[in-house]
Amino acid sequence: MAQKTINLILMGYGNVGRALVRLLEEKTDRLRASHGLSLSLQAIFKSTGGLFPCAGLEIKDILDDPAAGLSSHPLWKSNLSLESVLREAEPGVLVDCAPSNLKTGEPGLTHTRLALDSGWHVVTANKGPLAVDFSALRRKASGNRLALKFSGAVAAALPALDVGLYSLAGTEVLAIEGILNGTTNFILAEMGKGRSYSEAFQEARARGIAEPDPAYDVEGWDTAVKLLLIANAVMGLELRLADISVEGIVDLPAELVERARSEGKSLKLLGRIRREQSGPIASVAPCTIDRTHPLFGVDGPAKGITYFTDTMGALTISGGKSDPRGAAAALLKDIINIYRS
Ligand code: HSE
Repeated sequence: MAQKTINLILMGYGNVGRALVRLLEEKTDRLRASHGLSLSLQAIFKSTGGLFPCAGLEIKDILDDPAAGLSSHPLWKSNLSLESVLREAEPGVLVDCAPSNLKTGEPGLTHTRLALDSGWHVVTANKGPLAVDFSALRRKASGNRLALKFSGAVAAALPALDVGLYSLAGTEVLAIEGILNGTTNFILAEMGKGRSYSEAFQEARARGIAEPDPAYDVEGWDTAVKLLLIANAVMGLELRLADISVEGIVDLPAELVERARSEGKSLKLLGRIRREQSGPIASVAPCTIDRTHPLFGVDGPAKGITYFTDTMGALTISGGKSDPRGAAAALLKDIINIYRS
């Protein structure tokens, strides 16, 4: 198989960024054998600087850095600029795993624009830039004949976007319902077993499922952004966050979870959108569902989504790992798929 070397720049070195670096090491042989790809990590950026050039480094040496924080590495540069790396390295893929800021989108928004203006594809798990400027970023990418892929930002290991964009091509998606946040689904499942909200919340954090700022999860914003991005991409809408009514699970009385369970039902944080004559109606809210609901069995940290279409009927997918390794695998999938054709 002909081999292609693809340069990568990694923005962010938290749980997901580190998991991706580990996967690059673990999957080197498979990527070469099955996809003809050799992924060459050129730089890793954190908010305090960056490691560059990484190309000659063994990935395991980066991972073995005892501080696991990179900044003690001899190649660490506290004043490294993304512009200089974009200029010096042959264009490939910028992978954004930096923390999300849903209000400003920064600094990811600037990084994404810079990359797309410099001939680099972007694969992102960072919801902030997409929440703030989705349509313009997509236009910029397609205008420059580059890919902007964001499976990692929308339920990651659950292939919600791939199914919506590829498997449902030619249908009209009339409505979407989803359990799109593993943290809240885990908390609600644990509360159903009698654990307290705070105990379950702490465990979700310890498992690395929750956002760096877990308010995004429990207040419903993480679900809202995922719903927004999936709906805009799959239903061809131009929704903004302000168009979605959002209620989380922070003030949810534990009795409601217990009551649902005692009645053989289940309480879930659902993201929902449907087309109406007056326009799309979108919401995020805790809802009690019964066994007939297609998402009833989506339990623990799992996620799921149902698409209601005009020609293919209703279609549900669920599962996928809800952890940093699952999110990193979704990023890797997007990178591979850019070069598939
Ligand atoms: N915090 C998110 C969740 C994972 O709980 O699903 C990243 O989207």
